[in-house]
Amino acid sequence: MRNTFLLCILLIAGVSCWWDGGHMMTAEIAKQEILARNATLYEQIEKYVTILNPLCDARSQDFVQAASWADDIKDDAMNFWYGWHFYDKPENPQGLYVILDQDNQVYNSITGIKRAIQELSRKYYLPLQNNLNISVQQAIMMRLLIHIVGDMHQPLHNVNMYNYTYTQGDLGGNKEKILLLNKTSMILHSYFDSGATRLDSFPRPLTQEKLSNLSALAYEFRAQYPRSYFGQRMNVTTPEQWAQESYDIAHNFIYPFVTKTNQITPEWDTESYEIIKQQLALGGYRLADILLGIFQNQTAPVNQTKSTNTQTNSTSNLRKTIIA
Ligand SMILES: *[C@@H]1O[C@H](CO)[C@@H](O)[C@H](O)[C@H]1NC(C)=O
Ligand SMILES: *[C@@H]1O[C@H](CO)[C@@H](O)[C@H](O)[C@H]1NC(C)=O
Ligand SMILES: *[C@@H]1O[C@H](CO)[C@@H](O)[C@H](O)[C@H]1NC(C)=O
Ligand SMILES: *[C@@H]1O[C@H](CO)[C@@H](O)[C@H](O)[C@H]1NC(C)=O
Ligand SMILES: *[C@@H]1O[C@H](CO)[C@@H](O)[C@H](O)[C@H]1NC(C)=O
Ligand SMILES: *[C@@H]1O[C@H](CO)[C@@H](O)[C@H](O)[C@H]1NC(C)=O
Ligand SMILES: *[C@@H]1O[C@H](CO)[C@@H](O)[C@H](O)[C@H]1NC(C)=O
Ligand SMILES: *[C@@H]1O[C@H](CO)[C@@H](O)[C@H](O)[C@H]1NC(C)=O
Ligand SMILES: *[C@@H]1O[C@H](CO)[C@@H](O)[C@H](O)[C@H]1NC(C)=O
Repeated sequence: MRNTFLLCILLIAGVSCWWDGGHMMTAEIAKQEILARNATLYEQIEKYVTILNPLCDARSQDFVQAASWADDIKDDAMNFWYGWHFYDKPENPQGLYVILDQDNQVYNSITGIKRAIQELSRKYYLPLQNNLNISVQQAIMMRLLIHIVGDMHQPLHNVNMYNYTYTQGDLGGNKEKILLLNKTSMILHSYFDSGATRLDSFPRPLTQEKLSNLSALAYEFRAQYPRSYFGQRMNVTTPEQWAQESYDIAHNFIYPFVTKTNQITPEWDTESYEIIKQQLALGGYRLADILLGIFQNQTAPVNQTKSTNTQTNSTSNLRKTIIA
């Protein structure tokens, strides 16, 4: 359901999850964080992205710009990965009888991140036919991981709001419109994807100037919201918790406001952008930590056992997941 509907919106509006600016910001912040620790290691990590370059178009030829690769392939042959872009926790203030999308219970951003980490942590027991020892699975998972960690930090990628207007869910604000300060109408979800409209001008492939502007902006975000700003939140390390944090923002900040009015105010607009900056910084730090965790302390190759797909369990037991 969501797939078809959202796909239509995306095709009509030509938009995507966190628009390119937001995704590249997360990746750029992660890049800066890893470079600061170990530049050689960063180069090694980026090879997992660039090894696929000959199979990709000009928009995703480096670590930062590849952050949107998952969107590049989404509308085409690879749309079975669609669910990995979000996690639909229900927001259900009016207590509707809601049947959750079964696919998203299994294939979502939480399971996607875990799967990518699992794959990237693996050593292959049969020699790979490239001198980097990077498998095709790992190359794909690296590109997906950079993207999904970003999406998970967009609050509206972690919620589906049901009420008597949106009995089938509002798809994380994709069915709702708000009025910007200049009275222009915008889809609520897109408002957050676009960084409260402030990060919507980074078309890929980036020019050199845009690249340095993005980089400068990432330094600003890190300076304004350093790791120390987040205190205990830096110790929150599971994708489940990150999704919950994002959901909480939607629950406590976004929906209470849009329930009252669809006309945003200067105060709410400013606060939204600050929250977005925080989320982008957090996403960048966490992405860096994931990658450092995988690659920094890699020891000699251990014998790999055959992959067990943690996602292929039957959904039959999940069909009971109905909330009142
Ligand atoms: C930096 O990373 C490289 C590549 O993984 C590693 O060989 C080197 O020991 C690391 N340096 C430090 C100081 O950790
Ligand atoms: C690739 O893996 C093999 C053994 O699995 C190892 O001997 C070789 O050093 C590795 N090469 C790189 C570039 O990591
Ligand atoms: C209204 O503001 C948005 C966001 O700043 C901008 O993209 C849009 O062009 C503006 N529309 C008009 C009619 O000024
Ligand atoms: C990049 O940043 C500079 C300095 O802040 C600014 O003057 C310029 O307009 C920006 N360029 C683009 C393309 O946004
Ligand atoms: C995070 O956890 C570490 C290790 O458990 C602890 O030393 C540190 O004080 C914690 N940081 C915060 C801000 O709570
Ligand atoms: C459903 O929620 C939206 C805000 O998210 C609000 O505009 C709308 O009025 C609500 N519908 C009902 C029937 O309460
Ligand atoms: C890597 O190992 C060093 C030394 O054992 C440790 O201090 C560091 O925290 C580890 N880093 C990660 C990301 O696991
Ligand atoms: C890995 O596999 C090889 C070949 O089967 C075997 O000789 C070796 O002992 C194994 N190493 C470990 C650590 O299990
Ligand atoms: C899949 O099923 C097995 C066996 O019932 C279980 O151990 C495992 O945790 C399940 N995995 C998931 C992701 O639910």
